Amino acid sequence: MKNIAVLVSGGGTNLQALIDAQKCGELGSGQITCVISSKADAYALKRAKDNFIRTKVLVRKEYPDIASYSAAMLDALREADADLVVYAGFMTILDSQVCNAYPYKMINVHPALIPSFCGKGYYGLKVHEEALRKGVKITGATVHFVTEECDGGPIILQKAVAVRNGDTPETLQKRVMEEAEWKILPEAVRLFCEDKIHVENGIAVVDE
Ligand code: GAR
Repeated sequence: MKNIAVLVSGGGTNLQALIDAQKCGELGSGQITCVISSKADAYALKRAKDNFIRTKVLVRKEYPDIASYSAAMLDALREADADLVVYAGFMTILDSQVCNAYPYKMINVHPALIPSFCGKGYYGLKVHEEALRKGVKITGATVHFVTEECDGGPIILQKAVAVRNGDTPETLQKRVMEEAEWKILPEAVRLFCEDKIHVENGIAVVDE
C-alpha cells in the first residue's frame, strides 16, 4: 500500500478524478490518505471530507516566508507518512527542503504541454489565456515530477488537446481538464504505485 498525500488550492476537480479512480480500483496500491490545502475555503476540502479523507489546511499567508511554510508542509507530509505527494492544482511553490525530502516522489499536473506555457506565473486560467494569445492549435496537459525548478522536472505523461475557433480561456480549460488532466493524472499515479516509472539521466521512463 502506498500512502498518497494530495496538495490542493482550489476546486479540486483533479482530486475528484483521483478519488473516482481509487473507487474504481484504478490507483493500483495507492490510497489517498490526506488532502492538504493552501486555502481554508478551497472546495477541494469538501470533496475530501465527503469521501472521509483526512484534511489539513496550511495557509501560506500565515507563515512569514516560503522556508517556514515549506517546513510546516514537510512536517505535515511526514505526519501523513506520504509515499507519494500529488500537486493537484496546488498553487504554491515549495522550497528545496521539500523537494529534497521527496526526490521523484512528488508529481504535478500542469495544464499545458511543457515546455510551453509553464514556469513561474503560468498557472490556472493564465496558462490558457497565454495559449490563446499565442494562437497555438494544440495544447494539452503534462504530469511531471516536481523538482526545485518550477515545472522543470522529468515529464511522465502528456496528452494533447485541440484548440477550437472561438475558444475562451474557460472553454479551453474545461476541455483540457476533461480530455487530458483527469485522465493522465490518475494514470501517472497508478504507474507510480506500480513502480513503473524510472528516472534515467533526468528523463522519466515509463515501463510499457
Ligand atoms: C488545473 O487545471 C491544474 O492543472 C492547474 O490548476 C487547475 C486546478 O484545478 N494547475 C496549475 O496551473 C499548476 N501550475 P482543480 O483544483 O479543479 O484540480
